[in-house]
Amino acid sequence: MSGRAGEKCQRASRHISPSSRFSSSPRPPPPNPPHPTHTRPPKSQIYVPSHPLSKHWLAVARNKLSPPPVFRSALAELGRILLYEAVDGWLPTVEGRVETPTGVADCTFVDPGEPVVVVPILRAGLVLLESAATLLPASRTYHVGYARDEATLEASPYLNKLPPRLTPEDRILVVDVMLATGGTVVQVVEDLVSRGASDANIRVVAAVCAPPALQALGERFGKLRVYAGMIDAELDERGYIVPGLGDAGDRAFGTE
Ligand code: URA
Repeated sequence: MSGRAGEKCQRASRHISPSSRFSSSPRPPPPNPPHPTHTRPPKSQIYVPSHPLSKHWLAVARNKLSPPPVFRSALAELGRILLYEAVDGWLPTVEGRVETPTGVADCTFVDPGEPVVVVPILRAGLVLLESAATLLPASRTYHVGYARDEATLEASPYLNKLPPRLTPEDRILVVDVMLATGGTVVQVVEDLVSRGASDANIRVVAAVCAPPALQALGERFGKLRVYAGMIDAELDERGYIVPGLGDAGDRAFGTE
């Protein structure tokens, strides 16, 4: 996978912007009115890869007939593609040289001194970024677990392995398979920022997301980027994404 994420991915933030909140003025507009986007709150940047394999593995995961092993491997493949996109142009590198069987080559390495911080949100986040540990030459993984109250749709933490302190320079990948209402991912990003991280260095990877989550992230964290397999249209009355994937944790682990 080559090329910059912004060039290779469909930039989708327009799809989630709320309709203009600027009503027409009773007075005539000034000669050169500022463009309304200049005064809107900043929005997260959303990237949806157009790679056919990304679409293929998402389709396999969406299929309700895919059993847990197939669902898991489809999510892992999708996660691999999203991960490549999310770290493109973002990982720190160092220059070096290696001896090949026939000579010496100038080389670029991913800097092992600056490991990426990976934050999977349990349970399904584990599956989507299964490949992170093997794809990233240097990473540290800190798990967090949130359970959703099915009546209120509020998420509350039951596990938090985050380090006490982070820095604005730490590059952080948050993995939440389904960004539905955004309740969980917003709490996690708020927690990361409260420990010293900067939203400019936080990238969220998700299989499917919905407008309410993107709206919630965009309103709070203007510099954060989301890399998603797809943006779906809506949520149902239980807060599930439609058409979505169903309950990603249950489908990945064969539970009901
Ligand atoms: N969590 C899921 O697993 N699926 C959804 O559609 C929304 C939240």
